[in-house]
Amino acid sequence: MSTPTSTELGTYAEKLIRGRHATRAFRPEPVPEDTMRRIFSLAGTAPSNSNAQPWQVEVVSGAVRQRLAGALRKAHAERRTSVDFPYSEGMYAPVHKERRAAFGAALYGALGIGPDDHAARTAYDAESLSFYGAPHAAFLFVHGDGEARLAADVGAYLQTLLLAMTAYGVDSCPQGLLSFHADTVRAELGVTGGKLLVGVSFGYADETAPVNRVRTERAPLEATTAFHG
Ligand SMILES: Cc1cc2nc3c(=O)[nH]c(=O)nc-3n(C[C@H](O)[C@H](O)[C@H](O)COP(=O)(O)O)c2cc1C
Repeated sequence: MSTPTSTELGTYAEKLIRGRHATRAFRPEPVPEDTMRRIFSLAGTAPSNSNAQPWQVEVVSGAVRQRLAGALRKAHAERRTSVDFPYSEGMYAPVHKERRAAFGAALYGALGIGPDDHAARTAYDAESLSFYGAPHAAFLFVHGDGEARLAADVGAYLQTLLLAMTAYGVDSCPQGLLSFHADTVRAELGVTGGKLLVGVSFGYADETAPVNRVRTERAPLEATTAFHG
C-alpha cells in the first residue's frame, strides 16, 4: 500500500473518527479471530506517558461471555456493585450535567422510556449488562497506583481501540456501567491485579434497532477549546 498523502489521511480520519458511534443493539455473529487480533494489536499502539502502557485488557467471547453476563445480571438483581474508581453525580459541573441530561432524554426517548419510568430504566440497565447482545466484550484494567494519571493512558487506549474497531467494520459501545461490577468481572475471569476503568461491548450493529439511530452532537469548538498566541 502506498503511503497516503496528508490530504488523503485527513479525509480518512474525518470519515473514521466521525463515523464511530456508540452501538446499543448487536447481532449475535462473532467477529473473526484474526480481525480481533488485528484490532487489539492496533489498539496497543496507543500513546502512554513514558510508553508505560499501563493497561491490561481482558476480552470475553463464547461461553465465558455467557457466564459473565449471567453473573453480572445476578449481581444487578441482588443490587451488588463494586467500583475501583469512585463515582458520583456531583463530579459533573452544571454544563456537563446539562449535556448528560440532553443525551439521556434522546437515548431513553429512542427506547420509548419516559423520564420518570425508573422501573424501565432499571430493566434497561440489566439488559446493558448482557453487553446489548454483543458477542464480545473487552474489559480495560488500569495497572499501578497512579489512579487518574494512569487512567488517562488507558483512556488513550480506549479511543484507539474504538477507532481500530470502526476501521475494521466492528461496532462498539464503551460501557462505564460495566465498571460498577469490578469484583464480579474479576471473580469470573480470575483477574487478580488492576482496577477496572471501563468495558467495551463489540460486534456488529443490529441496523434495524431504533436505538442505533441515536446520534449525538458536540459542543462548538469555542466552548471547549481556546487557542492562545
Ligand atoms: C468512558 C465512557 C463510558 C460510557 N459508558 C456508557 C454506558 O455505561 N452505557 C452506554 O450506553 N453508553 C456509554 N458510553 C457511551 C456514551 O454515551 C457515548 O459515547 C456518548 O453519548 C457520545 O455518543 P457517541 O459515542 O455515539 O458519539 C460511554 C462512553 C465512554 C467514553
